[in-house]
Amino acid sequence: MANNIFGIDLGTNNIKIYNLATDSVLIEKNMIAIENKNTLFAYGNSAYEMYEKAPANIHISYPLNNGVIADIKKMEMLIRQFISDLSGGTLKPADFVIAVPTDATEVEKRAFYDLVRDAGVKAKKIMVVEKAVADGLGMDIDVKNSQGVLVVNVGYETTEISILSLGGIVLSKLIKVGGFKFDEAIRSAVQRSFSLVIGAKTAENVKIQLGDFESAGTGAVVYGRDIVKGLPVEREIPTKLALEAMDNHFRNIIDNVKVILERTPPELGADIYRHGIYLTGGASSVAHFAEMMSNETGLKVNIAQNPMESVVLGISKIIKDDNYKSIAYSIEGSSK
Ligand SMILES: Nc1ncnc2c1ncn2[C@@H]1O[C@H](COP(=O)(O)OP(=O)(O)OP(=O)(O)O)[C@@H](O)[C@H]1O
Ligand SMILES: [Mg+2]
Repeated sequence: MANNIFGIDLGTNNIKIYNLATDSVLIEKNMIAIENKNTLFAYGNSAYEMYEKAPANIHISYPLNNGVIADIKKMEMLIRQFISDLSGGTLKPADFVIAVPTDATEVEKRAFYDLVRDAGVKAKKIMVVEKAVADGLGMDIDVKNSQGVLVVNVGYETTEISILSLGGIVLSKLIKVGGFKFDEAIRSAVQRSFSLVIGAKTAENVKIQLGDFESAGTGAVVYGRDIVKGLPVEREIPTKLALEAMDNHFRNIIDNVKVILERTPPELGADIYRHGIYLTGGASSVAHFAEMMSNETGLKVNIAQNPMESVVLGISKIIKDDNYKSIAYSIEGSSK
């Protein structure tokens, strides 16, 4: 490969891009703001800043849904902007390694390859890697030699549960639960209990800071609109309400982990039992989740150091370390 190489983990909520030239990772919201139907108005974090605040002629959206590409044109536009920014405004020919969801169809996987090919980023060689394998590498697991590694990635709209062995995937399951559903659960509980409508970002902040509020022994102070009076108000939300609201989703994820464990061949089960579960993805940091997972499964839970970055860090190892190059593979693009 040349030395102009980018690694991409396209998340539903955040896009993560590794740039070999600077050996660093860019994380931005995977969001785009379009003005008057066809003009690019903002992208990434700045589009997210405007979310829920923009006038009607500015349409703000996520081009990915449940981990798969929902709006190809907008996704291409975003990739082009980010890669161009990382290249100092002048695109140079480059190689790409992109992570693909494990439990996706061949057509969905190929769509990621086509995306990079057609994004206008002067792509030369395009390789793909299974997200779960990259995740394992990013958490410093020697994925090529390990027999039986259970990786659980709790993202924004999806949770991917995978069993890896000898550099490949043995079993995997993608469920449509993640940080977004946690936020929604908090929102509706607040509405039900306090007749208070809060925004998505407010609910997300309550979720992220839940552990801090608990340690401080306070509730979460939020601003919202009182449904009865129709006026903006400030309220303190008990942490217990937020935690209880998310409980069903936590259980759903853990039940699915148990199902995968039940289906795991016994020889691999031994290694999983020894090493425990590897937990990652941004939303896996939510208070009490890791602890509940450990209690319910009876397994040790290893928490990723950088939960949002483990996939892209894994990709960076594939790019930098010859030992891991063979983990990425090339797929045929669809003919146009
Ligand atoms: N400290 C935290 N505590 C709880 N949740 C967090 C924390 N930090 C980030 N999150 C949540 O993590 C989610 C984003 O994680 P991540 O970037 O891994 O998702 P994604 O890769 O974009 O989504 P997907 O994998 O589903 O496509 C958001 O829902 C965000 O609220
Ligand atoms: Mg993800």
